[in-house]
Amino acid sequence: MTELNLDLLFSRERIAAEISRLAAEIDRDFAGREVLLVGVLKGSLLFTADLLRALSIPAAVDFVRLASYGSDTQSSGIVEFRYNLESPIRGRDVIIVEDIVDSGYTLEALYNKLLLQQPRTLKICTLIDKRARREVAIEADYVGISMEDGFIVGYGLDYDEKYRQLADIYLVRPEETPFP
Ligand code: PRP
Repeated sequence: MTELNLDLLFSRERIAAEISRLAAEIDRDFAGREVLLVGVLKGSLLFTADLLRALSIPAAVDFVRLASYGSDTQSSGIVEFRYNLESPIRGRDVIIVEDIVDSGYTLEALYNKLLLQQPRTLKICTLIDKRARREVAIEADYVGISMEDGFIVGYGLDYDEKYRQLADIYLVRPEETPFP
């Protein structure tokens, strides 16, 4: 694969500041309770870890892995669960942790599935909310950064499994965007 040209979009300092703000909001909203963070692999790996560390209230963590089918450019809306929660969430305060909401199909499928398991509360926290490509009406309760369109990589976000390890988030130059 050829290297893409990347321009810094959201620095590690900006990301850390947004995570501190989100953690403070969650600490406030769930004061005196314990939350379960449900990270959506693989993209939310770094965000989930950093959010977990930033919380002051007691927090447990679990993960799910989903895959959606369709062409590279468009999600089909059919979401397969490849890896599921380890323990029941009935009666618990659950927060889905996503790196990015794009079409919203992944989140909608996960949200509806978890809701059937009757958590006490079910919230959504996303680091990036990419609104321009939303296909379904689903809103995150906690949003780090809102952006319009653009293909981004870094801080867990990949292109063909590359660039997840970058500490900052980069915009792929539009002329090189793999998924126009
Ligand atoms: C990405 C991202 C979200 C989802 C958002 O995951 O991490 O889970 O897409 O897209 P949507 O709103 O259009 O459904 P991806 O399927 O690329 O897998 P990954 O997390 O393993 O990179």
